[in-house]
Amino acid sequence: MTQKTVRMIYDGKEIELPVLEGTLGPKAVDISTLQKEFGLFTYDPGFKNTSSCKSDITYIDGTESILRYYGYPIEQLASQSTYLETCYLLLNGELPNEAQCQDFHDEITHHTMLNEQLIKFYTGFRRDAHPMSIVVGVFGALSSFYSSGEIDYHNAEEREKATMRMIAKMPTIAALAYKYSKGQPFMHPINSLDYTSNFLQMCFAVPAEPYHHDPILSKALDMIFILQADHEQNASTSTVRLASSSQANPYACVAAGVVSLWGPAHGGANEAALNMLKEIGSVENIPKFIARAKDKSDPFRLMGFGHRVYKTYDPRAKIMQDTCNIVLDHLNMDDPLFDIARELEHVALNDEYFIERNLYPNVDFYSGITLRALGFPSSMFTVLFALSRTVGWVSQWKEMITDKEQSIGRPRQLYTGPDKRDYVPMKQR
Ligand code: ACO
Repeated sequence: MTQKTVRMIYDGKEIELPVLEGTLGPKAVDISTLQKEFGLFTYDPGFKNTSSCKSDITYIDGTESILRYYGYPIEQLASQSTYLETCYLLLNGELPNEAQCQDFHDEITHHTMLNEQLIKFYTGFRRDAHPMSIVVGVFGALSSFYSSGEIDYHNAEEREKATMRMIAKMPTIAALAYKYSKGQPFMHPINSLDYTSNFLQMCFAVPAEPYHHDPILSKALDMIFILQADHEQNASTSTVRLASSSQANPYACVAAGVVSLWGPAHGGANEAALNMLKEIGSVENIPKFIARAKDKSDPFRLMGFGHRVYKTYDPRAKIMQDTCNIVLDHLNMDDPLFDIARELEHVALNDEYFIERNLYPNVDFYSGITLRALGFPSSMFTVLFALSRTVGWVSQWKEMITDKEQSIGRPRQLYTGPDKRDYVPMKQR
């Protein structure tokens, strides 16, 4: 088959740009010769139309509501897999057999403890610090324990160790951030528990009494972790890739990913969505807030609504809504915020403004209600997102570091500042 090309004429000169084809999804024009041939850059704010890399990991079709990890549909993984098995898939490209799964579980389990020196970092934070700021700081501090100067991350074995450590230690770091905010004693990991039950134990157990873990709630949280495990080249993942492209320490690069995730336009939306539902307060107030969301002079947006890639229902939002139902039923809870959310969704999905702009609920719309029912305060929601996304960041880092085509990331710009001018001495200004 002959390679498709895009013909481009500029200033009387003609060049052909190769069109690259992935397995699925839109093809991409290879513009790497554009500057050399024409002296031109492309201009694409927010990289909305730019593929920054080739990746085998996650496939999204935003118009067909598709999300797959290495080909496996998110719906199947959420209902049949576990978070740790999904981690193995994201890191290795294949589902593990029983022995591989057990080995992986054992490896992760044996890296969950933190160095005692690292635990001292917590006390330096204000008691009322946002747990995301604690996670950024403490996770970044891991870089001082596993320093790039001494470790060659181009060595597969070292990469493997770093991978295990990051996935294993993130729940401990996150749980301790929560315990610190509560002023409760830090709980150590328990190796006999599965990954998610152990995390819940580290958050909610206290030394004074036995902790009874609830498998239904563990399963629900595990499913949420699966939904959020990876999402191809979003802002935080691109941040991790860009930071790592200079061959910086991977622990510090993942901390950079945590920062990017924190923003309300990204992972911070789950906290913002719950706060919005609280602010709405009752179903009668919904029209007022819908009107505000449509008013261009008002910065208010429906949080948990709209997505850069999904221009139809976010496939994760449906599973999240079902999970929310399961958790509320199991706990016999009647959360008025869930009623507000359902009604808000119904009103928005039938409103011309939202229909025209293809604005649908995203994964964050129902996650806050579910996490609240599980006992987490809203300040922990983005931390939980960061926990589950760690495997995505690490998988993408691993893929990038072994990709021969990748070099240091260096976007260019369209300069719009002043032309050359001469320095004017202070007295003459
Ligand atoms: N409420 C009201 N209007 C909205 C919303 C919203 N949540 N989202 C987008 N719009 C409107 C915009 O005002 C714009 O209208 P216009 O065409 O009249 O100017 C139009 O829809 C397109 O919006 P963009 O911001 O250009 O869409 P984009 O795809 O760039 O943004 C984003 C996506 C940032 C997620 C946006 O929808 C948003 O801010 N949503 C709320 C925050 C949120 O839920 N973020 C979580 C994303 S999922 C995740 O990170 C896991």
